[in-house]
Amino acid sequence: MKEKVNALKEEALESILKSTNLKEINDLKVMYLGKKGPISELTNHLKELAQEEKKEFGKVLNELKNEITSKIEEKIKYYEEQEIKEKLESEKIDITLPGVKIPMGSPNILEHIIEEIEAICMSMGYDVVDGPEIEEDKYNFELLNIPKGHPARDAQDTFYIQEEEILLRSQTSPVQARTMLAAGGDKPIRMICPGKTYRRDDDDATHSHQFMQIEGLLVDKNISLSDLKGTMDVIFKKLFGPTCEVRFRPSYYQFTEPSVETDISCFACKGKGCSLCKNTGWITVSGAGIVHPNVLRNCGYDPNVWSGFAFGFGAERLAMLKYGINDIRTFYQTDLRETKDFDRKEKNND
Ligand code: DAH
Repeated sequence: MKEKVNALKEEALESILKSTNLKEINDLKVMYLGKKGPISELTNHLKELAQEEKKEFGKVLNELKNEITSKIEEKIKYYEEQEIKEKLESEKIDITLPGVKIPMGSPNILEHIIEEIEAICMSMGYDVVDGPEIEEDKYNFELLNIPKGHPARDAQDTFYIQEEEILLRSQTSPVQARTMLAAGGDKPIRMICPGKTYRRDDDDATHSHQFMQIEGLLVDKNISLSDLKGTMDVIFKKLFGPTCEVRFRPSYYQFTEPSVETDISCFACKGKGCSLCKNTGWITVSGAGIVHPNVLRNCGYDPNVWSGFAFGFGAERLAMLKYGINDIRTFYQTDLRETKDFDRKEKNND
């Protein structure tokens, strides 16, 4: 038995020493230490021995088992470490290699001008609010002093979803009504609402069936046309530069009285006259006016106490003017060269 143990020990230690990789050493582990291995087999024979011998051999077998186990574990550890080392070596990254260039995105032109106007208005205490694009006739027209059958409706060729009741909003002005009604008639309001609007227009260079408006509404006490003028002045000086002048021309909107058309001095020719301003020196940029008493009343505000002004910009028109874009369809096609070009112009402006 003793010889058997010694032979086994010699053989096992030699095999362990000769092993060259993790798989081999794991196989040896199963072979020598497994349930069907030689050590288990010898252990099974212990019961056939006398008590004294049993004790002695039990101890010898135990020592053998411990020695082989520790030698095997040592080797396993070594090979595992080796494997990690090799992996790290083979996956080494050469940080000096030039990287793959990911093209930089540029802001959408329309979104950019809307954000600019939002920032200007927020600096004057305005909230930016939202409203539904699928709207009720009540908000889009009736509360805004445009009753059913009124000829002012014809100017806004509207997409109706459900006859006479549900429509795609033709302007962002319904958000004025919604905001006043939500405010409850007893608080001042300063809000702008940028959003999509829809009209049954044929698409060409200056018309689109879908376009963006930016609505503005201020309701407070003792508001006059000069407050509106001052506000427009701030907005357009910030958008087009400090020399930009603002003028009002009388106009007509059903929901404002008086109503005005806002012109700005032509930034291309500085008012001298050019093709952009059609030689007038002025460019029309928005409709605006003093909120009609009927609208205030319809929306829960007492016109004897409260007054306000409202304005509406066409976002595409402003962006076209500011960035020299001559086709409104530019905003709705996915030609990345346009936004790249805009990015370049924007940087040159800075
Ligand atoms: N909603 C008008 C339009 O689409 C634009 C407008 C004009 C809005 C005057 C206003 C305003 O708030 O006061 O033509």
